[in-house]
Amino acid sequence: MKKLREPENLLVHGDNLVALAKLRARFAGKIRCVYLDPPFNTGRTFAQYNDSLGTQEWVAMMRPRLLALVPLLAEDGAVFAEIDDTQLAHLSLLMDEVFGAKNRISTITVVRSATTGHKAINAGPVHVSDFILAYAKDKKQWRYRPQVRTRDGLDPAYGTWLDDPDAPPARWSFRSLRTAIAEKLGHASSRAAVAALGKGAFDRQLALLALANARHVVRFAQPRYEAIGRAAQAIVDRSRAEPSRVLVLEREGRSPFIVRAGNRILFLGDKVRIVRGRPAIVEPLTNVWTDVPFQGIAREGGVVFSRNKKPERLVARVLAMATDPGDWVLDPFLGSGTTAAVAHKMNRRWIGIESGDHLATLAEPRLSRVVAGEDATGISLETGFVGGGSFTVMEL
Ligand SMILES: C[S@@+](CC[C@H](N)C(=O)[O-])C[C@H]1O[C@@H](n2cnc3c(N)ncnc32)[C@H](O)[C@@H]1O
Repeated sequence: MKKLREPENLLVHGDNLVALAKLRARFAGKIRCVYLDPPFNTGRTFAQYNDSLGTQEWVAMMRPRLLALVPLLAEDGAVFAEIDDTQLAHLSLLMDEVFGAKNRISTITVVRSATTGHKAINAGPVHVSDFILAYAKDKKQWRYRPQVRTRDGLDPAYGTWLDDPDAPPARWSFRSLRTAIAEKLGHASSRAAVAALGKGAFDRQLALLALANARHVVRFAQPRYEAIGRAAQAIVDRSRAEPSRVLVLEREGRSPFIVRAGNRILFLGDKVRIVRGRPAIVEPLTNVWTDVPFQGIAREGGVVFSRNKKPERLVARVLAMATDPGDWVLDPFLGSGTTAAVAHKMNRRWIGIESGDHLATLAEPRLSRVVAGEDATGISLETGFVGGGSFTVMEL
């Protein structure tokens, strides 16, 4: 891991409105990504801060703080604001007002809890989500760093087995994936395999063996005719006229366009990536995140910040899509220090602002452990971060 340039990261103790104004001289136009997780105005009083303002008071608190972010942001920078549904509508309007509706990147739904405990007895549907409102300073200049998520289980659309993917396509022959896997397991048919193993066990074996043999596993997908180029349209037309033949259109710099009976052949192998050291099936990230566990984060960073702490993996995903190593990241509502810890482990530079006393009791000790290489929680393992770098504490 590259060593961070030092000393540069900044932990600021004080009100963020004052801090943001002070940072302007040094950081105008330098911040590539802001992640902010303000008080949600839930009506509760936490040990560390009061979370019950009137809505108008809350909006009046947020507006100048969002406005103060604008001059700090790089022209190709972006802001990600996390909120639950208490103030979702007001924050959306505020973000539109401050950053412009045309610069809205996405509204991400983050599933944060299961339907257990007291939440299940609320009147109405059980609330299990947060939202992240993502805005670019200028969407034309902002660049998305594409992200994937791992898929649990096999997409049932991948139901076909190709015996010899290395043979010329004209000689390819296809059969049912279930039959091919049953035979690999020594059974005459998938029905015989289910009878012998049970459906659950056979399906698990099927998913494992499909992943292990992903080059052989395909699906047929109807191309969106109007969305493909002329050459691809021509080959689709030909393929419809000669449905038993496999036709290939080679394309420079892209995977070949392969069709049979007018349908495109897609390979499971193209969706396999190594994730945390193991092959996994991935698909493009959507704006519904169900795969970042909030459960089990109580001990992340070695600090207790009940109900407020966000998972390191959540912030890591935001930083992965919006920053590159060395970029400046800002969190004006730092809380227990999650954003700073994640940015540090991902080799980004960071500024965290927190007005509460827990800056000294939670965030600072947490970040000191990160720097010392003593924090093995959160994303430490997957980033391979072993310590290093430094930060400065600034009192306002
Ligand atoms: C929801 S918590 C942030 C939790 C954080 N994302 C984490 O993972 O630990 C909101 C934080 O904003 C802080 N805060 C509220 N108003 C502030 C202000 N005006 N200036 C600085 N910090 C503020 C609160 O003290 C609280 O720690």
